[in-house]
Amino acid sequence: MSEKIIIFDTTLRDGEQAPGASLNVFEKVEIAKQLERLNVDVIEAGFPVSSQGQFEAVQRIADSVNAIITGLARTIDGDIDACHKSLKGAERSRIHTFIGTSDIHINGKFESARYGKSLPEKQATILKMATDAVQYAKTFTDDVEFSAEDAGRTDIGYLCEIIEAVIDAGATTVNIPDTTGYTMPEEFGAKIAELKSRVRNIDQAVISVHCHNDLGLAVANSLFAVANGARQVECTINGIGERAGNASMEEFVMSLNVRSNFWNFHTDINTKEIYNASRMVSGFTGMLVQPNKAIVGENAFAHESGIHQDGMLKNRDTYEIMTPESVGIVNNKIVLGRHSGRHGLSSRLKALGYEISDEKMGNIYERFVFLADKKKEIFDEDLRVLMGDEAKSEIGFYTLDYLHVNLGTTTIATATVRIKTEEKMHEESATGDGPVDACFRAINRAINFQEMAKLEHYQVRSVTAGKGAQGEVTVRIKIQDSAYSGKGVSTDTIRASAKAYLQALNHYESLKNMENVFEEITETV
Ligand code: KIV
Ligand code: ZN
Repeated sequence: MSEKIIIFDTTLRDGEQAPGASLNVFEKVEIAKQLERLNVDVIEAGFPVSSQGQFEAVQRIADSVNAIITGLARTIDGDIDACHKSLKGAERSRIHTFIGTSDIHINGKFESARYGKSLPEKQATILKMATDAVQYAKTFTDDVEFSAEDAGRTDIGYLCEIIEAVIDAGATTVNIPDTTGYTMPEEFGAKIAELKSRVRNIDQAVISVHCHNDLGLAVANSLFAVANGARQVECTINGIGERAGNASMEEFVMSLNVRSNFWNFHTDINTKEIYNASRMVSGFTGMLVQPNKAIVGENAFAHESGIHQDGMLKNRDTYEIMTPESVGIVNNKIVLGRHSGRHGLSSRLKALGYEISDEKMGNIYERFVFLADKKKEIFDEDLRVLMGDEAKSEIGFYTLDYLHVNLGTTTIATATVRIKTEEKMHEESATGDGPVDACFRAINRAINFQEMAKLEHYQVRSVTAGKGAQGEVTVRIKIQDSAYSGKGVSTDTIRASAKAYLQALNHYESLKNMENVFEEITETV
């Protein structure tokens, strides 16, 4: 009998920590609903104490999504309080608390003598902080997870000691993160096996793993961990996360699924929802999926060479180890157009994973008709793009009211923009090194970002098929050491660029505003 592996999705917490991937509350709730359709067991919805936006998103997800919902907390009472408060509405909730356990983390983060003078003294303090935090979290819920951050580089003797202590304190899941993606699969597997054999009470908790992908081994390490006793795997959609990201959910799940003749494990994931989830996360975060990405990349099921195409026509098994349909990629022939009604649109959106309230549908239908006027045939990709764009327009400090660009082979590109804010219209012109540069400079001038916003990344691609294909522009800007991304879509790429840039600025404004009110909230938890 194959054993079940619990899937703990951390797209909304670790995934969102990817540079520039910040999501607004509406987007987080939409993604959480898609994770529910995927049948994920545990959803890590955020780090509630870290900002008001995080707190609110965890709260909204806890209120509306049916899975175990968890939030992250340091081993600090205030973090655990915030976590508990944000999770109150959940039918099933978990508090996830963590602390660094490797010598490098201990010496780096707990340098102060108040944690102890020597390494053993500091280790004793950390063990006490961990057990106190687990005991405190237990006063709110039975389901408590403890993570030994940087376990991959933690001394095995100390790791066994702290894991045993937190289980005695009541932890029901013990997570062993390879925080820096440093370990090799056999080495990581051996670490799990050693914990299993050395920790006296290990049978009283589920062993979980959380692997980062710095050496491209996150999925391999997770598989080796499972082979050696782990029964929960933490992962993200498209593998997004800190630095090189986390173990990719779709790769891990499909490895167990496709090679069920090799692994005696299964998950409860509804694999047919994988592609919808991947596209939604990519659309909302602005993080493009590389074309050759396993399972969900554009080329994952494309057969280019004549020999391969010939083989495929004779028998798909020749070059395909799974079908595109098994992960929800359907060769959809349904094309909508300007005469499609609301009902046709909403049922297509539903099939793509978007549940739209009647109240929102009016606006979306209006945008759909506007697009259909420009572009005769509307494909699934157009709808996904429209939904991504719609979600971002939820945060609208700045909206583009007017854009005019002058360019030619012998003239200097000049842009004039008019930007609407709640108080007034801001109009400015600027010249630049090409129309897009001129446009960004004019925006900076109009709303006073000249000194602050630095463009870090700019990408344009055609996202949809057919005549009048839409151009999608992704930008990432840096303001005061933090990155903010934005995406804009239009049949006109300069307009798409202006929208993307404004969206990144909107992200900055919304997060800045949330930080301001957050202090008041944390005082009351
Ligand atoms: O990578 C890591 O160690 C983490 C923990 C907080 C689980 O994300
Ligand atoms: Zn992590």
